[in-house]
Amino acid sequence: MARRKKIYEGKAKILYEGPEPGTIVQYFKDDATAFNAEKKAVIEGKGVLNNRLSEFFMTGLGQIGVPNHFIKRLNMREQLVRSVEIVPLEIIVRNYAAGTMSKRLGIDEGTQLPRPIVEYCYKDDSLGDPLVTEEHIAAFGWASQQDMDDILSLALRVNDFLSGVMMAVGIRLVDFKIEVGRVFDGDFQRLIVADEISPDSCRLWDIETGEKLDKDVFRRDLGDLKDAYTEVARRLGVMPKNAQPITKPTLIN
Ligand code: CDP
Repeated sequence: MARRKKIYEGKAKILYEGPEPGTIVQYFKDDATAFNAEKKAVIEGKGVLNNRLSEFFMTGLGQIGVPNHFIKRLNMREQLVRSVEIVPLEIIVRNYAAGTMSKRLGIDEGTQLPRPIVEYCYKDDSLGDPLVTEEHIAAFGWASQQDMDDILSLALRVNDFLSGVMMAVGIRLVDFKIEVGRVFDGDFQRLIVADEISPDSCRLWDIETGEKLDKDVFRRDLGDLKDAYTEVARRLGVMPKNAQPITKPTLIN
């Protein structure tokens, strides 16, 4: 096969030119980074799990009519997605206080918020993805008012979907981050969910025990990250425990 053209390499994924115009191959690496890449490790198998989990969430979102970039999974580490023009924002939805919100506002981690709170960060690693307001977003032209209405609606729909899916398997969705991108259909442009949805970009706590099942396990040295992600996948029925990643559905009694 001809060597594919690499478009971009990020911290956890590589993007290659797709087979058709308007498509991209998204390759999930095993690299884990935290604190703006100050802490790094290779967690064998993480990419395989995140490829599957992102497929699972994006497919489910598609089924309830939340537009997203996912087209199909190609193999253990790659999926075919629509190419989008990424809006340079990290959109964070929080249901419980944690992480930077707890630090910034002095709220104990795990405190339930009065309602989901959506925050925007400007996507720029060299600046550490700073929190910005809608004023900055409008003034610097990163997104229009219509875009912001659409982004809020997408973020809240993803939150409702993910919260429900997680709740059903005994996991609390504390917070998560999404990215959105523009696609052009003829003269029309619309925004769709892009990037990935995985335990790398969510906070997931076991409802009973409070055990962390997300990237905080790596950030805070709480144990084996792969075990945590495998547990999430197992509960969601995405991959059976201790099994090699499967390519065909297997009957489990
Ligand atoms: O994760 P950290 O404490 O640095 O920041 P946060 O603002 O508390 O993160 C909120 C949520 O967004 C967490 O689920 C993070 O994993 C996720 N996030 C992300 O996926 N990528 C970022 N660059 C920043 C946050």
